[in-house]
Amino acid sequence: MSDIRRVGVVGAGLMGSGIAEVCARAGLDVLVNEINGDALDAGRQRIARSLDRAVRSGKLSEADRDAALGRMSFTTDLGEFADRDLVVEAVIEHEQTKLDVFTTLDKVVGREDAILASNTSSIPIMKLAMATRRPQQVIGLHFFNPVPVLKLVELIPSLLSGADTQARSEAFVTGVLGKTVVRSQDRAGFVVNALLIPYLLSAIRMLESGFASAEDIDNGMVLGCNHPMGPLRLADLIGLDTTKAVADSMYEEFKEPLYSAPPLLLRMVDAGLLGRKSGRGFYDYSG
Ligand code: 3HC
Repeated sequence: MSDIRRVGVVGAGLMGSGIAEVCARAGLDVLVNEINGDALDAGRQRIARSLDRAVRSGKLSEADRDAALGRMSFTTDLGEFADRDLVVEAVIEHEQTKLDVFTTLDKVVGREDAILASNTSSIPIMKLAMATRRPQQVIGLHFFNPVPVLKLVELIPSLLSGADTQARSEAFVTGVLGKTVVRSQDRAGFVVNALLIPYLLSAIRMLESGFASAEDIDNGMVLGCNHPMGPLRLADLIGLDTTKAVADSMYEEFKEPLYSAPPLLLRMVDAGLLGRKSGRGFYDYSG
């Protein structure tokens, strides 16, 4: 049983909107925050499109879609998070931005045993926890994109996360959201990105050096290893800015060349070629 009923999601980008959607579909009251009205609208539309897609594929009835939408509300004011039982932070993968969110959440979230979680891919949970006066209630809950489809959530306690916070978070993820938990130490990249990011960067280096074309690299892994998508298309799905940010955090933590972002990735991010979300990355999505 979970005592978590009111969830707050900070950030309505790819991950935040997916997290808000799965929470609303699980019957929870969900409040979504973004920094301005445009970003909030974009998030709301992304959630509505994803719910419509689930209706079209027969996974969700129209009534359940409407009920899920009815359980969601949207605000640009984090002050409205006072009554939340759990808040999941899913803003951009930028340390200072996340630290600022945690400092604010600590001030505004009123319930004494509320859990403050981060969906960070790579920033140490300990740093985020120390931006609050309640580090025992801060934990990492790392979802995977697309959140409504992928079953995994990494659970990352920091050195100071309380046993109660860990148990309640795990009960929530498994019992309420119906996802599977793997636990990881609080090390940049956790389990999945520690393995995935070097693979994606290797594919980018392979393309950059003229070793093989993007299509051949991706087809190699799809047809040769039965992956659902190749590494370059996956980097486009994750977002090249996020891929770079995660690689940078891991490089900073371990100083290993295998986590160092190759120049092609840096130039593409500078150029605004961020993958699917910007319409172009290694592939063109404008059509
Ligand atoms: N939102 C909701 N549902 C989606 C979706 C989305 N964005 N994209 C696809 N789906 C659903 C579809 O509705 C479909 O459901 P159905 O089977 O009931 O009809 C199902 O997923 C399969 O979709 P499609 O048939 O359109 O396409 P594919 O079979 O090619 O699957 C995919 C698309 C689910 C994205 C699949 O290619 C995949 O799993 N790719 C790998 C994704 C992955 O590795 N993600 C992890 C990224 S790492 C990460 O997130 C961590 C971060 O920290 C970096």
